[in-house]
Amino acid sequence: MAPAPPDITTTPAWTALVARPRPPHLRDLFAADADRVANYVFDVGDLRVDVSKQRIDDGIVTALLDVAEAAGVAERRDEMFAGHHINVSEDRAVLHVALRRPAGAHLETGGTDVVPAVHDVLARMGTFAEAVRSGQWTGATGARIRTVVNIGIGGSDLGPAMAARALNAYRHPELTARFVSNVDGTDVTSALAGLDPAETLFVVSSKTFTTIETLTNARTARDWIVAALGDDAVARHFVAVSTNSQEVEAFGIDTENMFGFWEWVGGRYSLDSAIGLSLVVLIGPQRFAEMLGGFHVIDEHFRTAPLAENVPVLMAMIGIWNANVLGSATKAVLPYAEELARFPAYLQQLDMESNGKSVRLDGTPVTLDTGPIVWGEPGTNGQHAFYQLLHQGTRIVPVDFIGFANPNHPHRRHHDLLVANLIAQAEALAFGRERPGEPHRSFPGDRPSTTIMAPQLTPTVLGQLVALYEHIVFVQGCVWGINSFDQWGVELGKELAIEITEELTGGARHKHDSSTDALIAWYRSTRR
Ligand code: F6P
Repeated sequence: MAPAPPDITTTPAWTALVARPRPPHLRDLFAADADRVANYVFDVGDLRVDVSKQRIDDGIVTALLDVAEAAGVAERRDEMFAGHHINVSEDRAVLHVALRRPAGAHLETGGTDVVPAVHDVLARMGTFAEAVRSGQWTGATGARIRTVVNIGIGGSDLGPAMAARALNAYRHPELTARFVSNVDGTDVTSALAGLDPAETLFVVSSKTFTTIETLTNARTARDWIVAALGDDAVARHFVAVSTNSQEVEAFGIDTENMFGFWEWVGGRYSLDSAIGLSLVVLIGPQRFAEMLGGFHVIDEHFRTAPLAENVPVLMAMIGIWNANVLGSATKAVLPYAEELARFPAYLQQLDMESNGKSVRLDGTPVTLDTGPIVWGEPGTNGQHAFYQLLHQGTRIVPVDFIGFANPNHPHRRHHDLLVANLIAQAEALAFGRERPGEPHRSFPGDRPSTTIMAPQLTPTVLGQLVALYEHIVFVQGCVWGINSFDQWGVELGKELAIEITEELTGGARHKHDSSTDALIAWYRSTRR
């Protein structure tokens, strides 16, 4: 594997980038360049990506691409696709791109081609999904399954939950899905409310099968099934998705009903692995395959397009410009599609768990701010909540707008209005409107956004969107020289929670700081 790249801020490419003059107001950039749209709108797969309203000019883009080159983005990308152990702190390959390779393609790590195993699991998922969809797989009483409840958290929840909502239009009409993630008992209580145990199938999804939230929820679900249908019913009502067959067995799920994946699939990159099982049941194997095809289109573009035409690279580098040169700490992702309501939450894990790091690959501190704070809500709701700050606040928040030419519902009038709002917001942010003498009513403009449009939110398009963001995160991780594929930062809180759970429930007290001690003491004395 190539040695860790140098701290990017020590390279001539970085020095040249930060020395670039800041561009004039977006109004002036557009006025000065009749070809701006032609130059800054890119088609990739079914996506039309318009970065013309970013605060960039040709010189800045060239300088950004020089930085990408100095960071070794192309080499790091090639290492990922070659199955190298680029997740250095866990000594693992990073091969989510193998999950969407077509059958017959190859991708090796450690001398093993992983694509055949990927397709074996996909075939088993497909057979199982068809059995549930057709009613051939029944519950213990012989009733057909009508509700699939996915129990998982983080990457074992957000991907399928986001996609099930996004692709609701493609759902089998007799099946619905619910998702339980939070250890807060309210979550499992409301997920089970109104369900008939005889018609409910649980998919317990956990890469490690040791995650306390998931196991706690799964035990509660098992008690619910056993109370209604008896011990023997568990086999017909529980399947597992995991890399850990021992723990699956220990939980009491037959490993015949387990769907596996591999250590080289990170949780937040696992939607298109067996973690997508509940989605396959809902939308069917054919639609799921179309989604994988969408991922693959963008993978191939990312793998082969020259940096200057490589859309994930360009979007990533514009993100670097906004974050590290223009100083924006956050990024809003604003889908104008109610079905993408969970997409910002999905991206929060993808981006913030990947790039929320402060040491470089070699353990030395980073010298630039890393992952942006990602947030968002669907339009137009957000317009009546936080857009005021986007338009007139003191902080500049770069925005990604996402929209579609055609809806998955019959209400065309609603959709035209929705898309008009998306386009209007991007225009208003970029160009503003000065009202001389009326400061409260003036809009400064010059607020950057990217607009991503597609013909319709289909499985293929969803795959393309997710892959686009995955690769943006990858490129930015390369520039910052960090490991985007571990997540040690979540461990300390987990460890302390185990200790504190014992203390809260009457176990021996440990010594904490005085604030923590007081909180524990208050809870113990107030808990009924
Ligand atoms: O919160 C950390 C994390 O490890 C995530 O990366 C992961 O997606 C989630 O927990 C769930 O893990 P598992 O699939 O092993 O239950």
